[in-house]
Amino acid sequence: MNKAFYLTTAIDYANGSPHLGHAYEKILADVIARTKRLNGESTHFVTGLDEHGQKVQQGAESEGVLPQERCDRIAKEFKNLLIELSVSNDDYIRTTESRHKKVVSTLLQDLFDRGEIYQAEYQGFYSTRAEQFLQEKDKVNGEWPEIYGEVSQITESNYFFRLSNYQDWLIEYLGNEKDFIVPNFRLNQVLEFLKEPLNDLCISRPKDRLEWGIPLPFDENYVTYVWFDALVNYVSAAGYGQDDFMNLWPADLHVIGKDILAPPHAVYWPIMLKACGLPLPKQILAHGWWMSSGEKMSKSTGEVVDPLSLVEQRGVDAFRYFVMREMTVGQDADFSLERFESRYKTDLGNDLGNLLSRLFHMTATYENSIVPKVELNEEFEQKVKSNFEEAKKQAMARFDSFQFNQGLEQIFIFIRSINKYADERTPWKLAKSELSEDRIKLRTCLGVMVESLRLAIQMLAPVMPGVHEKVNKLFGLPVCKSWESDLKWDFRLEGMRLGEKTILFPRD
Ligand code: MSP
Repeated sequence: MNKAFYLTTAIDYANGSPHLGHAYEKILADVIARTKRLNGESTHFVTGLDEHGQKVQQGAESEGVLPQERCDRIAKEFKNLLIELSVSNDDYIRTTESRHKKVVSTLLQDLFDRGEIYQAEYQGFYSTRAEQFLQEKDKVNGEWPEIYGEVSQITESNYFFRLSNYQDWLIEYLGNEKDFIVPNFRLNQVLEFLKEPLNDLCISRPKDRLEWGIPLPFDENYVTYVWFDALVNYVSAAGYGQDDFMNLWPADLHVIGKDILAPPHAVYWPIMLKACGLPLPKQILAHGWWMSSGEKMSKSTGEVVDPLSLVEQRGVDAFRYFVMREMTVGQDADFSLERFESRYKTDLGNDLGNLLSRLFHMTATYENSIVPKVELNEEFEQKVKSNFEEAKKQAMARFDSFQFNQGLEQIFIFIRSINKYADERTPWKLAKSELSEDRIKLRTCLGVMVESLRLAIQMLAPVMPGVHEKVNKLFGLPVCKSWESDLKWDFRLEGMRLGEKTILFPRD
């Protein structure tokens, strides 16, 4: 069996409701997965929930419920979000599932047996809020930054993973694998981080401080540190330990936010895999943040956008289009309701929605809804066709390099050029003429517009799967499964009857 393109997202913390940041990442990964499938690659797309740790335990305590109950409720909420966002994940992994806990134990035991994990006395600073040990160098101007909350001095015995042994190897690896991290400028940040000597990673938490975690297989007085637990989800979801594991592993792409690149994904994870003798993922894509009022949108800053309310207002495809059109992958973007409304009205309503409704209206009025034969190939028609070829070339290349905003821009340049073509050919005037050459021009114009809209809609499929399906149905076409066969300028709808005119993006 051929190896599938294995694509993952970060698994969200089970400590609050999902917001725009979580929604964006899952949509971004979904657009990548759908693009891969349309390009004929078999794809396995996994997302999930990160359920252990102090915040989850404390959240459950303050609600007076068991941590598992709280996680089950939050899992429902996150899974429902995926459905509402039309995310086409093949699997959903929760870190409280036994398939995951077993793999964490196996890997820990293996590393312990091989001397990669040792016990030692730790003395130093600990941040409860960040669930992290700190050093003097983490202070800013002599003070602990706000993000660490209360910091206390502790002494305790813990287990450590020999991260430091792998520092030179990792620096060399990252220097050779220039495509390992995208966008490329983030690699420099990781290398910057690696200029300081790495400390071994404390991978345990004593049970009397934290109970809600996976027990260490070699010492039941401890549970596993959250990052060691969470990162392993990528191999447990791929079926580590089972015969078909290598059909998925190594992952082809981990999609994550920039806040969890270094150290977790670009330092801990490659070293954990190397120490376990497993191949490294091929690529990590670190996206930027949705900001509100100049800060990262997050539960703790308070100002969060509820994706579901936007979906309810304008439909899921408009929301997906907006986040993909507005964010340059890798950079931050400010969320604004005005931008959302403006994209909805301009790109979707005026450019795409009006094209469909005027075209369906004209075809119904002049041709009884039957797609006419194209009999002319004059400069106007040649121009539209070459606009399509250009849009296809540009959009496919941009989609391939994760520049979805630019790819969408190219598709919308093409959509606007179809409207322009109609304005130039003026089919509504041609329809009034008795001349047979004007009939031919009219029929050609409608046929070319139908073909152009069909092609634009196929290119939009990964970003707007719902609109794609709806319009294809009006064309009498099934859902597009392969761009290779469907992105051809071949007037395949000639002689077919179009469905009823529809308002794709209603105004209030
Ligand atoms: N549980 C960890 C990830 C473990 S992966 C093995 C975690 N969870 S999180 O819920 O805090 O974040 C999940 C993902 O959402 C991360 O990739 C994070 O970068 C992303 N986002 C959270 N807030 C965000 C924005 N405001 N904007 C864009 N994405 C951000 O980290």
